[in-house]
Amino acid sequence: MSDAVEEIVNLGDRSYSVIVGHGVLSRTKTMIPSSARRVAIVTQEGIPPAYIPTFGVLAVSTHVIGEGESHKTLTTIERLCREFSQAGLNRGDVIVAVGGGMVTDVAGFAAASYHRGIPVVHVATSLLAMIDAAVGGKTGVNIAEGKNLVGAYWQPHGVVCEMDALDTLPAREMRCGLGEMAKYHFIVREDLSSLSMVDRIARCVRIKADIVSADEREGGIRALLNYGHTLAHALEIATDFSIAHGEAVAIGLLYAAHLAHRMGRIDSARVDQHYEVVHGVYGLRHALPNGITPDQLIIDMGRDKKAIDSITFVLDSATGLEVVSGVSADMIRLALDDLVLRLG
Ligand SMILES: NC(=O)c1ccc[n+]([C@@H]2O[C@H](COP(=O)([O-])OP(=O)(O)OC[C@H]3O[C@@H](n4cnc5c(N)ncnc54)[C@H](O)[C@@H]3O)[C@@H](O)[C@H]2O)c1
Repeated sequence: MSDAVEEIVNLGDRSYSVIVGHGVLSRTKTMIPSSARRVAIVTQEGIPPAYIPTFGVLAVSTHVIGEGESHKTLTTIERLCREFSQAGLNRGDVIVAVGGGMVTDVAGFAAASYHRGIPVVHVATSLLAMIDAAVGGKTGVNIAEGKNLVGAYWQPHGVVCEMDALDTLPAREMRCGLGEMAKYHFIVREDLSSLSMVDRIARCVRIKADIVSADEREGGIRALLNYGHTLAHALEIATDFSIAHGEAVAIGLLYAAHLAHRMGRIDSARVDQHYEVVHGVYGLRHALPNGITPDQLIIDMGRDKKAIDSITFVLDSATGLEVVSGVSADMIRLALDDLVLRLG
């Protein structure tokens, strides 16, 4: 395969390209709508300026948002919209988000809201943004009551995954992306580890694109993208977010395998495959954080916003992943014991 791969998210007249590769930043220009006279770049201080594309004769304004979830707020959205207005941005213009998932979520939501919706192009600079956050049109911010509770579906005009950016991505952020990447191995039951990194990222984009095309607003199979996330979210809450999301997902994937095994859905060889991918391929060997009790985790899993009537999991089976609700607390506890025993 060539060094740059293009995948299409098929959504009728809202379809768009995702370009993955090294040195692909200049492709951003091709995604700018012809109506645009102004470009508003939304980025963060920590994103190296080398990843900010240039736009020829178009007027460019730059809008820097804070780093960390505490800045993913409606206050940031209001500030951005005011700055866009002051820069003279109108409906035909475009917002370009340059950064990780936080920037694409915030800039995407600002784009969905400003003038009731203006085009946005994402330049994803973190692995997690490339394979997940920047693709699929979910945008949003946090409120005190929960993460990503206010938002909109707003598809971008295009996404550029500039893989050179991964050279400066902090190791912990890289692990976050790898945790999500591990998840894709199980969504499609493929050995992605034989692919080059460019092709592997493109394959993850393709898998997500197919799911989004089939279920844009998470009425069905889009929920499978939450594989490993029920325990992961509980671990994040229980540790007050001191565990990185990807580390929590890595543990959550192993836990989901134990739970599926306990429920007779998969055999022990399939559980081993989860360890081979999470520990072997991605080196995500994280222990359960100290001092967390099963009871606390069960309470926190019940708070997951995807839990409808009871604790809901995405679980593996001989025919693939499925959403399973109504799992008993006893079963959940037994699988936690299995996980603790195996992690040592
Ligand atoms: N919309 C979705 O479908 C979706 C899916 C998954 C996650 N998310 C969201 O994504 C966010 C997490 O995204 P993330 O993991 O990319 O974290 P992030 O965007 O918070 O970035 C982490 C840190 O890395 C820095 N960074 C990013 N790219 C860099 C680079 N190339 N070089 C140096 N520093 C760089 C950022 O400035 C930031 O400080 C969360 O808010 C989560 O809710 C959204």
